[in-house]
Amino acid sequence: MKTFRIILFLAGLIIISACSQKRGSKTTDPNSGEISANDQALLEKALAVFQTLPEIAEDEANPITSEKVALGKALYYDKRLSKDETISCNSCHNLETFGVDNLPTSPGDAGDEGDRNSPTVLNAALHFVQFWDGRAKDVEEQAGGPILEKVEMGIPSKEFLIERLSTIDEYQEMFAQAYPDQRKPLTYENIQKAIAAFERTLLTPSPFDKYLNGEVGALNDQQKNGLEAFIDKGCTTCHMGVLLGGNMYHKFGIYDDYWKHTQSEKIDEGLAGITGEESQKFMFKVPSLRNVEKTFPYYHDGSVTELNEAIEIMAVTQLNKELTDQEIADIGAFLGSLTGEVPKEALMD
Ligand code: HEC
Ligand code: HEC
Repeated sequence: MKTFRIILFLAGLIIISACSQKRGSKTTDPNSGEISANDQALLEKALAVFQTLPEIAEDEANPITSEKVALGKALYYDKRLSKDETISCNSCHNLETFGVDNLPTSPGDAGDEGDRNSPTVLNAALHFVQFWDGRAKDVEEQAGGPILEKVEMGIPSKEFLIERLSTIDEYQEMFAQAYPDQRKPLTYENIQKAIAAFERTLLTPSPFDKYLNGEVGALNDQQKNGLEAFIDKGCTTCHMGVLLGGNMYHKFGIYDDYWKHTQSEKIDEGLAGITGEESQKFMFKVPSLRNVEKTFPYYHDGSVTELNEAIEIMAVTQLNKELTDQEIADIGAFLGSLTGEVPKEALMD
């Protein structure tokens, strides 16, 4: 009986150690600083396609100063930037909820809704172009759009806004501090630059950045399995680099019409809608997947609410692959490791 118990005990030990071999992290002492061979191989694979976030998204043409960022922040939260003073940038890109409003489409100053989902402003300064169809080249240019857009903030003209802000002493002072060399600093261009400078600080380092920096314990086993699947299935053909996206356009629906899977009510032609080019039909900017767990609903029209469903649809329409439920769950868990921290200084005082 005694020997039987010992055999049982030994068998148990073998099973436990065999299980923990599967994902190397548990076989190494977390305090020893050593990385198991499995972990090392996966980390190297990841480092070949992804990079960590910089501290700030610099731009030579719009140097970032604390005065300019403070002004940009004030403007970002100010409802006086909309005609009837009902909404600010933060209404659709709420920094308390990862830079989005979690609605399929957003109501503007006059209550009308646009056709597209509000993407997050977090890390957006690092995109190669702005908007789902790239019609603004950077956050500086982008910031000028929604203020004058009828279905968004509805300000009738640049002059209208300059006049409105000129009557506010606090702004007179803040513009003078942000642009100290200029005699008339309160200009529309300077509004755009200040908001953009603020956006350039909205970067969200996440557990995945720690992982890429060599802290392999920052991801749990399921997240590591998901990372491996994400790379092996080919998601990284489009979602790679610093943002896991945000650096190219691609057709949505390579293997099947996207709307058959998303049940989209309106069929948006993406890039072709502005260029008229047949070859650019249904092309959209590949979105960044940073914070994606929090930025539902998904796709350019917010047609899909569940992250797992969005993952499943991607595999079918972009890769012609059926993922198992386990693979979907693992990839979902990995994408959760991209949830970062919104800088505290950026939140409303
Ligand atoms: C009424 C809601 C609404 C308001 C207000 C609004 N936006 Fe947006 N924003 C959107 C929508 C919708 C899009 C996507 C439009 C598209 O791609 O065609 C967008 C796109 C963006 C993008 C591009 C992000 C990306 O992934 O391409 C940035 C940056 C941005 N907005 C910043 C701002 C700033 C700054 C303000 C204030 C000046 C602002 N928005 C006001 C709804 C809004
Ligand atoms: C061939 C390029 C390509 C491949 C491969 C690809 N994607 Fe995408 N992905 C896109 C494009 C383009 C969009 C935007 C579609 C739209 O909204 O119009 C997108 C959107 C997404 C979204 C929604 C993000 C948001 O904010 O709305 C998720 C999640 C996503 N992809 C995950 C994945 C996963 C997981 C894989 C691998 C199974 C994958 N993608 C493979 C191009 C690709």
